[in-house]
Amino acid sequence: MLFQAPTQLFLCTSWFAVAVKSYHIDDSCTRAGIYQQVDDAMQSAFAMAQSGIAALATGNGMANVEANLNPARPPQLERLIKNVFAHDDIISGNTRRYKAPARDKYHMTLQNLKLYKVSRILGLVVTNMGQQTSTPGADDVTIYCDSSRLHLTEDGKSVTDADRNNLVMGSRKGDVYKCSQSNQGFAVAVTWGAPHDGDREWSAAIQLCKKTVENVKKGRFDNWGAFSRANPAALLNRVLTSTRIVPGFAQVDAFKLLDVTLLHEMTHARGAEGLNDVTVYTLISREIEAYRWLGITKLAKKLPYVEGERPTAPDNNSDSIAYFALGCHIMSDPTNPQEITDHGRLKRLSAAVQFP
Ligand SMILES: *[C@@H]1O[C@H](CO)[C@@H](O)[C@H](O)[C@H]1NC(C)=O
Ligand SMILES: [Zn+2]
Repeated sequence: MLFQAPTQLFLCTSWFAVAVKSYHIDDSCTRAGIYQQVDDAMQSAFAMAQSGIAALATGNGMANVEANLNPARPPQLERLIKNVFAHDDIISGNTRRYKAPARDKYHMTLQNLKLYKVSRILGLVVTNMGQQTSTPGADDVTIYCDSSRLHLTEDGKSVTDADRNNLVMGSRKGDVYKCSQSNQGFAVAVTWGAPHDGDREWSAAIQLCKKTVENVKKGRFDNWGAFSRANPAALLNRVLTSTRIVPGFAQVDAFKLLDVTLLHEMTHARGAEGLNDVTVYTLISREIEAYRWLGITKLAKKLPYVEGERPTAPDNNSDSIAYFALGCHIMSDPTNPQEITDHGRLKRLSAAVQFP
């Protein structure tokens, strides 16, 4: 199961509304016996978001947008930013080569890159979703662990949600149905960022797929900290196999556990501006979503650049933001600091990276 490509479908409506304020874990997670794991993973996701915010604080606090960061970023952080967010023009300091619309606010280089949007989105996740609520309203996010509430409409084209007054949540075409059945490939989770039904707004819904629930139950898809503490042998095995056997997977992808997944999904909620799963193209022009290390590092090398508030930029891509937060978190982890190398391998650090 480790090697099936996880896909996370994002379905969003075209409008934004008031911010999400908190999260709610549906009773189905208690019934599935994984309430605590889901809650722990949420806490881990928020901790990752906090690490990302801390990593970008210096740049975001500077008055002069064009100025280089002072103090400069630690090299491990600079490498992560280079890999996940920096087009080659930014790395070479030659962004003027691309005739960017005026929305590009400054002449970006790797040394002065602020990543305002990345910081803003991670901030929204923490401030808008960081509290637990038992009564989720329109502005909140709900996590479900039971997809049997989802049903196909009679014409077989759409999926409705029995828990939400049979509201149409999305089309069958995507992974929604796969998620509920898990018979062909599987999705890890599916998120509806801003469901609404006429005037009635429903909380954003994150559905953990059947297979995901099973894997969490078995302790295989926990969260970064719990997994590495509780299961060192399995961890090693996972890391080795995920790098040698599966093409298209990098070692770090083995650590996209429930916490990184939930962080990814939360960036799709209306309270985090409803980020996208941006697509990139393979050699044969097949559209693939910019997921996992290879996908996001490929996206970073495509136009448009970050900072321009554009739909297909790396800073509007959920997985780019989630991996960035993961990378910041593990490099600054005092007990087991590691950095993500250019090729998506994990490298032990002799000391935790300190963010100024
Ligand atoms: C990000 O992607 C979403 C979903 O496609 C889109 O609605 C939104 O406008 C994009 N944001 C920016 C700033 O481009
Ligand atoms: Zn997604």
